[in-house]
Amino acid sequence: MISKKMEERLNQQLNAELGAAHSYLAMAAYCDSIDMYGCAHWLKAQAKEELEHAMKFYHYIEEQDATIKITALPEPKCTYSSLQEVFETSLKQEKHVTALINAIVDFAISEKDHATQVFLEWFITEQVEEESSIIDLLHKLKLLKDSGEGLFLFNEELAKRKED
Ligand SMILES: [Fe+2]
Ligand SMILES: [Fe+2]
Repeated sequence: MISKKMEERLNQQLNAELGAAHSYLAMAAYCDSIDMYGCAHWLKAQAKEELEHAMKFYHYIEEQDATIKITALPEPKCTYSSLQEVFETSLKQEKHVTALINAIVDFAISEKDHATQVFLEWFITEQVEEESSIIDLLHKLKLLKDSGEGLFLFNEELAKRKED
């Protein structure tokens, strides 16, 4: 069993993960609109991952015999001026999610809720990977600046991302 307050926090996170999927899909749509199909593919895969994260929360809440609450999502940012802005926004978003996860871990510790602490461990590791892969992409974008050839190769590289 989890507490009512924990149920609320986990539901908030479930909806935040859905919001992240929503936002990644909007970024993918921008990339498709500027014909950067590889980047769009990468961002669609990212959106799918966020949905999987949401479902992990869904199953955990259900497993704990608590109630799942799906809420309305905020409208995501849909207009971007560059790929740089897309990946900067995604890094900001991931940092925000990391902070949310950390706050739930702190709460689980304060409640001596060991089961939720263990459940959240996977997300802590995942967030380190998420932030690191986006930082890597931002470094690459910085290096190639506005080189057409560089952007072509960047797009090709992102097109290779495998879907799980
Ligand atoms: Fe996530
Ligand atoms: Fe993420």
